[in-house]
Amino acid sequence: MNPGTVVNEKLDHWRALWDDAYEQPVSEGDPSLNLAGWTSSYTGLPIPAAEMREWVGGTVGRILSLAPTRVLEIGCGTGMLLLRIAPRCASYYGVDFSSSALAYVDQQVRAAGVEGVKLCEGQADALPLAATDRFDLVVLNSVVQYFPDADYLQRVLDSAVEHVAPGGTLFLGDLRSRSLLPCFHSSVLLRQADSDRPLAELASEVERNVATEMELTFDPTDIEAIAVELPCLASVKTQLKRGRRHNELTCFRYDAAIRLEDDPCRPLAAEDDRKEVDWRDEALSASALRRWLGGKPGVHLTLHSIPNARLVKEVEALRLLRRREDIETAGQLATALRQARLRGIEPEDLWRLESGDDEGERVVEVDWQAGSADRYVARVGSRSCRLSCCTPQVELVGHR
Ligand SMILES: C[S@@+](CC[C@H](N)C(=O)[O-])C[C@H]1O[C@@H](n2cnc3c(N)ncnc32)[C@H](O)[C@@H]1O
Repeated sequence: MNPGTVVNEKLDHWRALWDDAYEQPVSEGDPSLNLAGWTSSYTGLPIPAAEMREWVGGTVGRILSLAPTRVLEIGCGTGMLLLRIAPRCASYYGVDFSSSALAYVDQQVRAAGVEGVKLCEGQADALPLAATDRFDLVVLNSVVQYFPDADYLQRVLDSAVEHVAPGGTLFLGDLRSRSLLPCFHSSVLLRQADSDRPLAELASEVERNVATEMELTFDPTDIEAIAVELPCLASVKTQLKRGRRHNELTCFRYDAAIRLEDDPCRPLAAEDDRKEVDWRDEALSASALRRWLGGKPGVHLTLHSIPNARLVKEVEALRLLRRREDIETAGQLATALRQARLRGIEPEDLWRLESGDDEGERVVEVDWQAGSADRYVARVGSRSCRLSCCTPQVELVGHR
């Protein structure tokens, strides 16, 4: 089939699916948290509102930390971000290919009296923009997975970047991890499996589900490869999702911020860090690190190989499922996991180190670790000091 036809068929599929989701009756409750279409892969039921509130709070916080004033959101859906961010900006332009989504957002914007909002029906690769339109932030949150392929994402970014002011950011939120896709599918199937379900059957189903996955997935390296094709690229930064709850959003998704040149405040960048610490070598804990950082506001360090509390069990489960040496059923695998007593560090415990600094200066970034499914990296730095001007002479001894 002609590749253009395949792309259009995929777009039609997703548009019909989203239109259908938005035409369902809206459940009672907070109208700014309309969860149409947010279904749990584990239960087939709506993702609990408390989990979505945490998700939306984390995402909005991350976007507001970029201090945007003129925002374009591509795929604004029911306005969960728009209704929270637009009141803090001069203007907010929401585009979506679902007219039902836009009708809902329009109603909420009027009811709440939010000013400076413009809405328009449009497809991400044919943005309804004038040549002179400029934004300091373009948001694509939880949208990219519904794009037909990676070339489509590249085309969308190529055209969006022309409307980003110097120093602006393209925020790609809620990206689904490609490397973690087998782990995601095994986690879902194991949660649903009866305890006597044979692991061999489950292992084949995982591989089948990975092969037939409809949604698009990317690793941070894929996003970097796409971003380097953009003109005026300054930096690409990926981070794990915020949140304490373990669910498919916090465990298997992440955000990427692509900054364009003319950025006065340089972000923490791996190449700038002077001190590298292996979490395992130091046998650290979050509280030991907090004590050690106290009174050292200028310290910059990169901590790597931190066991991810969200994923240590899920990754071990997939390993056992694939190996199947001594265990044959889902129930035996659950017992083996319980006995393994796997523990990790909550990423939120590292972000909390920001609030431990009285000056409000400390910045913590938490990112996936390349090549490792269940380890992550945390970079600790300060807001005001360019990393290259600091001389972090630090020794992490005696803090085990
Ligand atoms: C999961 S919702 C995300 C909504 C919102 N960004 C948020 O984070 O709450 C995905 C939205 O993207 C829209 N969408 C998906 N693919 C699109 C495309 N190619 N062009 C425009 N909108 C698209 C859908 O209609 C849907 O409203």
